[in-house]
Amino acid sequence: MKQKVYITRRIPEIGIDLLKEKFEVKIFFENRRVDKTLLIREIEDCNAMISLLSDKIDEEVLDAAGNLKIVANYAVGYNNIDIQAAKSRKIMVTNTPGVLTNATGEIAFALLITLTRKIIEADRFTRRGKFIGWDPLLYLGDELNGKTIGIIGMGRIGRDMAFKCRAFGMNVIYYNRKPVDESIEKELQAAYVNFEELLENSDVISVHTPLADETFHMLGEKAFGRMKKGVYIINTSRGEVIDEKVLVHELKSGKVKGAGFDVYEFEPEITRDLLTMNNVVLLPHIGSATIETRNKMSEMAAENVIAALEGRRPENLVPELNGLF
Ligand code: DGY
Repeated sequence: MKQKVYITRRIPEIGIDLLKEKFEVKIFFENRRVDKTLLIREIEDCNAMISLLSDKIDEEVLDAAGNLKIVANYAVGYNNIDIQAAKSRKIMVTNTPGVLTNATGEIAFALLITLTRKIIEADRFTRRGKFIGWDPLLYLGDELNGKTIGIIGMGRIGRDMAFKCRAFGMNVIYYNRKPVDESIEKELQAAYVNFEELLENSDVISVHTPLADETFHMLGEKAFGRMKKGVYIINTSRGEVIDEKVLVHELKSGKVKGAGFDVYEFEPEITRDLLTMNNVVLLPHIGSATIETRNKMSEMAAENVIAALEGRRPENLVPELNGLF
């Protein structure tokens, strides 16, 4: 009998086709998150599952499938999965690192330049027929060249953002759990600073750290208090790293000049005030949304499942499970 794989939403065909060659594949076809009760019922007889970052995979879900060998997350971040629970049940967890670095870096940079050059506002103005001739004072923005970007979390995507910002003449400082290799610092001309120094010296702060207990509300009241007046904030990582209530307050006070978000503290809910502000750019979590990247993520998640179900160690086992399989 074929082993069974459950996929919690439609993903690009490439991975599904790979899986169908070997296993029985069930997919939740509706264009919404599968609710927990249904998920629990559907995975009962499954050996593997491909989950999305919006699926909460907790003890109850993991216990629902007695034969579950792997949860292959279709994302690089995996804060939606209870890793300790998976570990104690000897269930593998994998993610999709590397393949979405450039796509997410592009979105982070797009948010930045869209904000600083007021692209959305200017586009709306033009469409409304308000462009009546060149105006020396129309939509004056901030130039990136010579400004300092402070990167929080210097993993793959943080480094990619640093690289893109360097190309636009920005100075790069970063804060990370520990400094990255000297060769990387040299290549990116990036200087390691402590968290307070980053807050005090950045013209733009871009968040790239994963969500964990230590990073929850890392940008809260105290942190905003130390930032420069007129700072821009970009977040393409996880919404909960920023205390949105404080951010809204600081956008209103003018301390924060603009914010560009791809992710939200209460995703998919968006703090109401943000929706009415002109100095924010809001995207629907599309950091990795390129055809190339989503195809690669699909292939990668499928290959992780195939490895696990064929008794091999999947290539993208999350680091917390190293040594266990
Ligand atoms: C991820 O993979 O974690 C991203 O947030 C998807 O865009």
